[in-house]
Amino acid sequence: TTVEWEAESYDMGGHDTYMHKEISEQAEAVDRVLRGRIDDRFSTVHLGGLNLDAREARGVRRIKILGCGTSYHAGLIGAGLIESLARIPADAEPASEFRYRNPVVDPDTLYIAVSQSGETYDVLAAVQELKRKGARVLGVVNVVGSAIARETDGGVYVHAGPEVCVVSTKCFTNTVVSFALLALHLGRIRDLSVADGRRIIAGLRRLPEQIAEILQTEADIKKVAEEYADAKSMMFIGRVRGYPVALEASLKLKEISYIHAEAYPASELKHGPLALIEPALPTVAIVPDDDLLEKNRAALEEIKARSGRILAVAHQEQPKADQTIVVPKNETELDPILLGIPLQLLAYHTALALGRDIDKPRNLAKSVTVE
Ligand code: G6P
Repeated sequence: TTVEWEAESYDMGGHDTYMHKEISEQAEAVDRVLRGRIDDRFSTVHLGGLNLDAREARGVRRIKILGCGTSYHAGLIGAGLIESLARIPADAEPASEFRYRNPVVDPDTLYIAVSQSGETYDVLAAVQELKRKGARVLGVVNVVGSAIARETDGGVYVHAGPEVCVVSTKCFTNTVVSFALLALHLGRIRDLSVADGRRIIAGLRRLPEQIAEILQTEADIKKVAEEYADAKSMMFIGRVRGYPVALEASLKLKEISYIHAEAYPASELKHGPLALIEPALPTVAIVPDDDLLEKNRAALEEIKARSGRILAVAHQEQPKADQTIVVPKNETELDPILLGIPLQLLAYHTALALGRDIDKPRNLAKSVTVE
């Protein structure tokens, strides 16, 4: 399979950059990660490589997810999915920090290492430290047979196919979908109802078509990106499920356009960052139709009152925003997957407008195999 990957990875398939190719491949990639795993009879999913039987899964009291960069952000969304579908307390932390705070390793905690390449040193070292202390560690990894895949006790392959661009897009999306599968699996072993299992499965099945729908709006997103490309700095805000989407969108913009960007929970604006808001600092706001819609809208009003420009990524037009990118709605738990996709295109077209080397941003490497 290594040979296949290499052959495929040199073919840009008519795209100008690998990043554009990889963004465009996401509907098929998501279809691939779902394929053969859904069990309609029991409204659950089968994850062949997990190595965690139902009794062990019931014994998990806490989940700690470790990753770096984009994989860390995917882990944050994953923790939210696990908490909402499986009701297991879960959180994510940068693997690069975890090792150095002499973490309390608890036998009832399940650890999950996330890595596209499966070779990131900081993640691998965290896995080795955890194993040394007797913890059970699973991997959510894209590259089959990679170091992290080999060192972990089991896990979920992300099946995104080869990703060549230094910054991650389709792997991020497929990693989040993999967490949704894991959360559904754990949920159905615990207290998630058949009806809710069915609802999530139906939502998962809608994803590829909805992703294709978002990709069709590329020309509009390009126009918006060109309008914001002169910004020196940008603010990204979201709440709860929307916050890791904001974090990832801000990282993507930084990595390839070199525009400074910050991400904040919208609720934290009033505790400091509001001081930055002025016409020269545009805000990108994640505004899904969920129980926080009114709260998010109030944040937009706060920003507008300080003459800030706002680009909303939402399920419906936002009157307070200067522009809204409307994204199709899925189940609330799965919405972060779709909300992130137009923001990949936003970063891409901003970087393109600025003439950046999109596939090989300065100072960065695809996988960092040293500390
Ligand atoms: C590098 C890349 C990032 C990536 C991170 C983690 O820093 O530049 O784009 O998110 O490594 O990579 P991994 O392969 O472990 O997901």
